[in-house]
Amino acid sequence: MKTIVSGIQPTGELNIGTYLGSIKNFVALQKSHPDHHFFLFIADTHAITVPQDPTKLRAAIKSLAAMYVACGIHLDQTSLFVQSEITAHQEMDVLLQSFAYMGELERMTQFKDKAQKQVEGIRASLFTYPVLMAGDILLYDAEFVPVGDDQKQHLELTRTIAERVNHQYGEFFTVPKPLFPELTARVMSLQNPDQKMSKSDPNVKSKILLSDPENIIKKRIRSAVTDSEGTVRYDPENKKGLSNLLRMYAALEETSVDNMVERYKGVNYQTFKDDLGTKIAAHLAPIQARYHALMQSQELTDILDDGKKRAEALAIKKVQRFKKKLGLGFKR
Ligand code: TYM
Repeated sequence: MKTIVSGIQPTGELNIGTYLGSIKNFVALQKSHPDHHFFLFIADTHAITVPQDPTKLRAAIKSLAAMYVACGIHLDQTSLFVQSEITAHQEMDVLLQSFAYMGELERMTQFKDKAQKQVEGIRASLFTYPVLMAGDILLYDAEFVPVGDDQKQHLELTRTIAERVNHQYGEFFTVPKPLFPELTARVMSLQNPDQKMSKSDPNVKSKILLSDPENIIKKRIRSAVTDSEGTVRYDPENKKGLSNLLRMYAALEETSVDNMVERYKGVNYQTFKDDLGTKIAAHLAPIQARYHALMQSQELTDILDDGKKRAEALAIKKVQRFKKKLGLGFKR
């Protein structure tokens, strides 16, 4: 079975950056890769690498599960599950710790960034986070891993770990390839186009949440930082804010940036922004309706149980085979 794996942390509400960088791409890839099975999950064990409120975390897990489904992932082609419910993920993490080096983990820019923000002390799990992530991927022998740009370094380490194991023990893991969305691998903050749009940014004006109503969406886009030139033109160096909006718009229209620029030739920023706000709201409206229906129904429990069952069967076998390969245990 050919597989594609990806995960999202249940921290903060989903924003349009995460959506365009991940879930929307998953749905597109399901169409273009009909012979692949998708293991998609809620990375809750990753979330506790920094402090979390347990009540909020529980709520965020359910909400993220509903969003995955509401955004249109094809359930017959997907095993959707909660990472912590399959303990093979934790087991694989521990085993792979012996195949990652301190120096490699010390070089991870996301660790450095996140460690800087910790006031209560830096958790050891934050340091070893990329190993847990490598396990998530290698457990299912993923051929592809669709992610945003910020996960590039983690994917490179996953490949290194897989190659290291294969080199020492003979072919065992599939070495995964990252897949980045063409236009939206890095959706930038609406207020600071030098920074990526982030779940953890406290500035509400920096992002659009998938749950935002139309009036808020339009307001956020209207107040997005652009420039004073006034011409709709793609120039990612000198017009970072506008170019970010153009890429988002093109991704939602499923067309090229060039086509969008052509469409808005001679049109002012206000009209461009109003149209983009309308487009985003129209795109999100059916997702929001499905999301609310799912949150009220029992359907999610069945979907997650089913996903867990299918993923776990594979994951348990892979861990058992890996332990055996390493010479661990006595009986089996
Ligand atoms: P997380 O939860 O931070 O983000 C989920 C996915 O969304 C992408 N993303 C973005 N893409 C474009 N522009 C943005 N502004 C933006 N913000 C977020 C991320 O790149 C990611 O693809 N470590 C992962 C979760 C994870 C995982 C895995 C992913 C755990 N195990 C195994 C793939 C495979 C994370 O924290 O993503």
